[in-house]
Amino acid sequence: MEVIVVTDRHELAARAADRVEALVRRKPDAVLGVATGSSPLGLYAELAARVRAGLDLSRVRAFALDEYVGLGPADPQSYATVVRENVTEPLGLDPRNVHVPDGTASDLEEACAAYERAIRVAGGVDLQLLGIGSNGHIGFNEPSSSFASRTRVTTLAPSTRADNARFFADPAEVPERSVTQGLATIMAARSILLLAAGPGKAEAIARAVEGPVTEACPASILQRHPAATVIADEEAAARLPVAERDGAVVRS
Ligand code: F6R
Repeated sequence: MEVIVVTDRHELAARAADRVEALVRRKPDAVLGVATGSSPLGLYAELAARVRAGLDLSRVRAFALDEYVGLGPADPQSYATVVRENVTEPLGLDPRNVHVPDGTASDLEEACAAYERAIRVAGGVDLQLLGIGSNGHIGFNEPSSSFASRTRVTTLAPSTRADNARFFADPAEVPERSVTQGLATIMAARSILLLAAGPGKAEAIARAVEGPVTEACPASILQRHPAATVIADEEAAARLPVAERDGAVVRS
């Protein structure tokens, strides 16, 4: 796993945007896996600025990582809305090429299978963007999720519901379940970029990068990916060994 430590959120967004831009210049219809939450917001804003300056992302295809069960695209808290407002519209993507799991399907199991098929039909994900939960989750694959998991319905950990309560008027409104890409789905991406900022991520980053590869820390599976990069600001990298905090280090 490659670890890049940057000084602040601005540099984090710029370094991540460089990766996305390089991919799209090489492959204009690249498939991006997009995360929601706070971590990639700076990246999306930076990409939007580059689009306004002439970068063309109009042929990019995108698959969201996850969606809350019960929230539809019209709900302001749904990830479909978050993706539309932060990715599809500002980056100039064609809405027909942007996919979000359907958290309101009457048959959720079939919706999960359909999502896996859609990713496969698109040729797989070229670059999967990830944030990390304070408990080490990626997507909504909470601790003890199977490394073999595919897109499915999961139950949010109480700590995740507490972390995400900030997006809702009332903490009780945070849904209890999600549809999320599984860990095996995420690992099938050709490359992965995990973004982490702030002191609340320091322990999770240390466990993901340095700890044992274990289902107790879902992000630790990324150590087994041939092309996974973590970009962390100094606060999120604070519990990594000194050598890694001092700059980019390539590890296996
Ligand atoms: C979001 C997602 C989650 C978040 C994680 C970190 O689509 O799947 O795994 O990436 O919870 O959230 P933030 O970035 O808000 O700290």
